[in-house]
Amino acid sequence: NMYKDEVGNLYKAKYSFDDLIGNNEAFRQAKKFACQVAQHTISTVLLCGESGTGKELFAQAIHNESSRSRFPFLRINCAAIPENLLEAELFGYEEGAFTGAKKGGKPGKFELANGGTIFLDEIGEMTLTMQSKLLVVLQEQEIERLGGSHPIKVNVRVIAASNKNLEHMIESGIFREDLYYRLNVVRIDLPPLRKRIDDIPLLCQHIIKRLNCCLNTSIKEISSPALEMLGSYTWPGNIRELENVMERAIILADMEKTQVLDQRHFVFIKKQLDLCRAAHEQQGLKSAVREFERDLIEKALQDSNYDRVRAAELLGIDLSTLYRKLKKYGYPA
Ligand SMILES: Nc1ncnc2c1ncn2[C@@H]1O[C@H](COP(=O)(O)OP(=O)(O)OP(=O)(O)O)[C@@H](O)[C@H]1O
Ligand SMILES: [Mg+2]
Repeated sequence: NMYKDEVGNLYKAKYSFDDLIGNNEAFRQAKKFACQVAQHTISTVLLCGESGTGKELFAQAIHNESSRSRFPFLRINCAAIPENLLEAELFGYEEGAFTGAKKGGKPGKFELANGGTIFLDEIGEMTLTMQSKLLVVLQEQEIERLGGSHPIKVNVRVIAASNKNLEHMIESGIFREDLYYRLNVVRIDLPPLRKRIDDIPLLCQHIIKRLNCCLNTSIKEISSPALEMLGSYTWPGNIRELENVMERAIILADMEKTQVLDQRHFVFIKKQLDLCRAAHEQQGLKSAVREFERDLIEKALQDSNYDRVRAAELLGIDLSTLYRKLKKYGYPA
């Protein structure tokens, strides 16, 4: 069946668990759990983690590790598609379902993925209406095409991902609690990079190898001071950001004709850390000023025998200002 073969090739997952680099404890736990879950091919999986933590990689690895691997893996980004199109994308439509509907209708992703896995990325962006439709599909294991008149049985595992806090979204009334509980049965939390900085050396090695290939460069290693610097950054964009930062560093080093990545090749990180440090120092200045002010006030109080009117005169400030400051520094009223 040629059509099926083609679909299979088109919708293949590239990554396996071997592509998931990391020895950090929390990361290894997540990986181990995902690996076990892969075998339970009917349970829905929820992947939670910040942007760039590897949700897509995990979804693909779970699919490839499962007995569904010879069936399609389809990804759909719920944030990128408007609601009316999303429904047609997921569930398909019959001929004449709406103006512009294709002749003969069109199968949706759930039908195309039959036997395999569907990866619903950024599930938090789904509208409430779509959320309830999805819940029905999960419960009934069947879909109905737009404009269709009969349900179609589907055997698809759903892996959902979110970089938003779904619990908060439930509280604000924009995510359905019942869908959340349905998805949350098997939940895998991917740690952010700043909580697994022990993995940075290994990840860097891996990225260098891969980028040497893509960029046709021959970088050999990364210096310890540079690694240390990367470890003190917070990585809001996680591993994707690390990849981008490494790419720039490799290009800079290559232009310099050196094979070792050093601190100076990580211009952006250096700048960010400097800004951070400056902010800290400013904090230091503020508390130094407070301390100085407090000492001056104490001295004026002593010199005036704790006569506050006289102390305010000595300090050259209004009495009300003095009272405000005394309160600030915890003097009894
Ligand atoms: N453990 C890992 N080992 C190696 N590479 C990783 C790992 N985790 C993530 N990556 C790489 O980081 C990049 C981001 O991963 P991925 O696209 O899976 O993140 P994501 O969680 O889906 O992010 P987003 O929420 O922004 O879509 C990819 O290029 C991927 O190859
Ligand atoms: Mg993603």
